[in-house]
Amino acid sequence: MDRQNIIEATAAFVKDTLQNAEGGHDWWHIYRVWKTAKTIAVGESVDTFVVELGALLHDIADSKFYNGDETVGPKKAREFLETLHVDEPTILHVENIIKNISFKGGKEKQIFKSVELDVVQDADRLDALGAIGIARAFNYGGYKNRKIYDPTIKPNLNKTKEEYKNSAEPTLNHFYEKLFLLKDRMNTKTGQLLAKHRHDFMTSYVEQFYEEWEGRL
Ligand code: ADP
Ligand code: NI
Repeated sequence: MDRQNIIEATAAFVKDTLQNAEGGHDWWHIYRVWKTAKTIAVGESVDTFVVELGALLHDIADSKFYNGDETVGPKKAREFLETLHVDEPTILHVENIIKNISFKGGKEKQIFKSVELDVVQDADRLDALGAIGIARAFNYGGYKNRKIYDPTIKPNLNKTKEEYKNSAEPTLNHFYEKLFLLKDRMNTKTGQLLAKHRHDFMTSYVEQFYEEWEGRL
């Protein structure tokens, strides 16, 4: 199989596997990350084959559904790519992308680094920004039965991971606690550019939101 056929077969595999996935990480999230990763890759010297496979397979097994087990995704990806006889260095690289994409800093040391990982990570983060990011945030909040906004509950940027997960905060607070911080965490030039565009869009969105809240505009 040539590279194009492998990518097409992988897309079909992912689409099929994620048929019943929750809205935030369904096939269409993968589709957007894949397209965005390709856009970002144009400005970087990377192996686009690895970027595309990494983007397609990065959420193949959401650890939330496997008791937090983060080894399932990389293993599933490897098993699938082996059936297509993809070369070992590519498989290893894709596994490493899946293992490290949600690395958030903190006490553990990040061992694996590559520009291909940078590209896929930027694309994944970009899907939490802009018009799509707003839709995903309110979709998540609705699923969790959260308020859209409450002016008496202020955002708190000093929460621990655990507190953050369990807090029933209004969705608009998530913008300040996470989404507005993402533009300064981009790895690539194009990622930064796209993040700025999407960030500015969200800024004007929240400005409009507050005006409407008080019956203005
Ligand atoms: P990732 O898969 O990138 O690790 P998450 O699972 O944390 O991301 O989030 C998936 C989507 O849900 C993102 O768009 C994110 O902004 C949104 N989301 C996560 N937590 C919250 C929250 N507390 N309030 C609103 N949206 C959230
Ligand atoms: Ni993702």
